[in-house]
Amino acid sequence: MTNEDKCVEASGRGSVAVLGAGKMGGAILAALTKAGDPRFADIRATVQHAHRAATVSKQLSVKITTDNSAAVRDADVVLLCVKPTYVRGVLQEIRSELREDALLISIASAVTTQAIESALGRHLAVIRAMPNTACRIGMGMTAVCAGRFAGAEHLARASALFALMGRTAEVEESMMDAITGLSASGPAFIYTILEALAEGGIRVGLPRELATTLAAQAALGASAMVLETGQHPAILKSEVTTPGGCTVEGLLELETGSIRATLIRAIDTTTRKASTLARPATNAGSEQDSWAKAESAKGIEAGDGRPV
Ligand SMILES: NC(=O)c1ccc[n+]([C@@H]2O[C@H](COP(=O)([O-])OP(=O)(O)OC[C@H]3O[C@@H](n4cnc5c(N)ncnc54)[C@H](OP(=O)(O)O)[C@@H]3O)[C@@H](O)[C@H]2O)c1
Repeated sequence: MTNEDKCVEASGRGSVAVLGAGKMGGAILAALTKAGDPRFADIRATVQHAHRAATVSKQLSVKITTDNSAAVRDADVVLLCVKPTYVRGVLQEIRSELREDALLISIASAVTTQAIESALGRHLAVIRAMPNTACRIGMGMTAVCAGRFAGAEHLARASALFALMGRTAEVEESMMDAITGLSASGPAFIYTILEALAEGGIRVGLPRELATTLAAQAALGASAMVLETGQHPAILKSEVTTPGGCTVEGLLELETGSIRATLIRAIDTTTRKASTLARPATNAGSEQDSWAKAESAKGIEAGDGRPV
């Protein structure tokens, strides 16, 4: 049995509903519906707007509707991929339709498993996941953590599902905002760096396409070196930096531009912002404001009335 087969076996062969086939939900759908892959034959998805349903349906060759309740009916796995401020509304729509043994996986930033459990008002297995858009091509990174009613087997099923799209890590829920700041937003930071490196190549006379390829492949190779050798990036950097050579001149420019302090601050700021995303930017002070926080504080009671 290949590793991929093991992933499939662990992730189950049943139906998957993806609610919110936008940028991230669409990337997950694209990965799950890879050409010729029979493993997830029963995939349903939803969006908010009917015209988008038609367009995305055509793009991904998946049946896409605007009916969340119908999509989750009988689904083994439900992936909640809407914006954080829409999570509560969608949960209210689907809560009575979810199967008792359904696995609900939310990728919404800032919305805790406790808030989801409380909004569902049912003892269902909830997993919170933080993927990134590279899942689309099987090069993603997804962190997962379990809610109160999810066991090791649910965590394993969710990990196996995301393992089809790249690397995975099981983490404490308290790390999720930081993971959002570093890993989910990370591709945008790397694209900015790649764009700038390519512009540097253009400045010294390289054609744009070649410069972009050189920058991207250098980043890919360096990333693979870190992941595959397990060596500290500083050690790998020293291998490239010949005494008195040209690389150290470039490194001096990067230090003068405070690249490291800038990147560290970028992750810090992104993480702090990520923790607030469940609050609507407009409509502040409304009943919906920070619902996730309120739901988290409320918690959910065990069958005997005790808080769990
Ligand atoms: N983008 C990323 O890199 C990334 C990474 C990790 C996690 N996330 C998380 O993923 C979630 C989605 O982010 P995104 O960037 O993919 O946003 P997006 O592109 O705006 O996608 C959101 C999708 O949700 C749909 N939607 C809205 N309300 C709905 C409803 N009531 N029922 C069904 N579908 C509904 C929208 O439908 P329409 O298409 O009709 O508008 C859209 O397709 C967020 O919670 C975010 O925190 C995103």
